[in-house]
Amino acid sequence: MATQNVTVIGLQWGDEGKGKVVDALAPSCRYVVRYCGGANAGHTVTVDGERFAMHLIPCGILNKGVMNVVANGVAFDPAVAIEEIQALRRRGFAVGPENLLISAAAHLAMPWHKQADRLSEEALGGGRIGTTGRGIGPCYGDKANRSTAIRVGELLDAERVAGRIEHITELKNRAFQALYGAAPLDGRDIAQQAGQWSAELSSMIGDSGSLLRRAIQQGRRILFEGGQGSMLDVDHGTYPFVTSSSVTACGVPVGAGVPPKAVGTVLGVIKCYSSRVGQGPFPTEQNNAIGDLIRQRGNEYGTTTGRPRRCGWFDALAVRYAVELSGVDELALSLLMDGPGRLETFRICVGYRLNNRMVEQYDPSLPLDRVECVYEDLPAWQEPIGEARTFEQLPQAARRYVDRLEQLLDRPVGLISVGLGRRQTILHHTHVPGLDLAVR
Ligand code: IMO
Ligand code: MG
Repeated sequence: MATQNVTVIGLQWGDEGKGKVVDALAPSCRYVVRYCGGANAGHTVTVDGERFAMHLIPCGILNKGVMNVVANGVAFDPAVAIEEIQALRRRGFAVGPENLLISAAAHLAMPWHKQADRLSEEALGGGRIGTTGRGIGPCYGDKANRSTAIRVGELLDAERVAGRIEHITELKNRAFQALYGAAPLDGRDIAQQAGQWSAELSSMIGDSGSLLRRAIQQGRRILFEGGQGSMLDVDHGTYPFVTSSSVTACGVPVGAGVPPKAVGTVLGVIKCYSSRVGQGPFPTEQNNAIGDLIRQRGNEYGTTTGRPRRCGWFDALAVRYAVELSGVDELALSLLMDGPGRLETFRICVGYRLNNRMVEQYDPSLPLDRVECVYEDLPAWQEPIGEARTFEQLPQAARRYVDRLEQLLDRPVGLISVGLGRRQTILHHTHVPGLDLAVR
């Protein structure tokens, strides 16, 4: 069984900087696989000052010789994928069957899913989830519901899928009309679009599970690229303010069709503060000048929706929970701030106070909206750090912060990212083979 595989996941509420870590490891891997979520993800990679924001196509696409796989667990939006593929081609990257495989068993995120997402959020008003509007929840809902779901493989039979689309649109329209009084979608128009999706994508659709299992037998290295973050996991996150798929390392076997042991080394990505988009509890949130400063320094605006992200301090309880959940081996620390400037201290939440009782361990049943955070204060650093290439070149206060995170999370920090560029990376206590290619 292959143990050289590596799984890269987010340990917070998404946007931890997974894209850069995947890009760093990709040259040492034969396969890069998305196994959860869909176009709600926004993974950013910066190559030679050029920014690439990937939603559905695995970040390995920027590396030659990597086979990128969109596995069965993904909610696949063909329109977004085609747009992304065409944008990559315009920028000089080849994308085709030689480097992209889309699982026939992945589910199509259809226009009615986006419509349902939007209508439901509008109707919920203040109680909304704050979704990305990409139809993720309704798509996975239909997947579980079965009769109104369409899988990617059905695009291979253009005529049959057109009939199903017209039929399902009719059913959905009836529901939208009854529930929300919404205007109907044009089933024939969607069926026509699906004809274009078939034409564009058919050559890249196939059985990704058997490909990956064969790769494991042959000892080829696979990287599983997580989407979202552990605290958004449908089972283990801050339900109901979560996404609708299994985004931890535990989601890999099901979402990619591989045995559990194929998960390999688990690399958990964290950033040195916290952010969250959409609604839901966020104990360390700083809805004030500090949060504004973090947002500005970290450029915390949604890659997918452009929404300003809610920002706050690092929550060691929540992250330790995520570390345990996925059996994280090593941490990758991103967005170590470049001279947090006006801040004198950098805080880490080390406990919650609830009804005058100290809570030192995260537990999903905690009423997170009612806990009060207990912080440990560490000195902030004033110096810019973007040029540091070794741990020793970091300001002492930044080194202390990293040391403290390692202690609190009881895991080594393998890599520290000090900027967007590929070379703005410090290798620290890593045991993950191939991570050294990060500094190429
Ligand atoms: P990456 O992969 C941050 C959040 C949404 C919302 C909740 C449910 O870039 O880290 P959904 O559209 O999935 O039904 O929304 O989940 N969310 C993310 N937040 N990063 C992401 O992905 C996210 N994907 C979903 O903001 O709160
Ligand atoms: Mg993102």
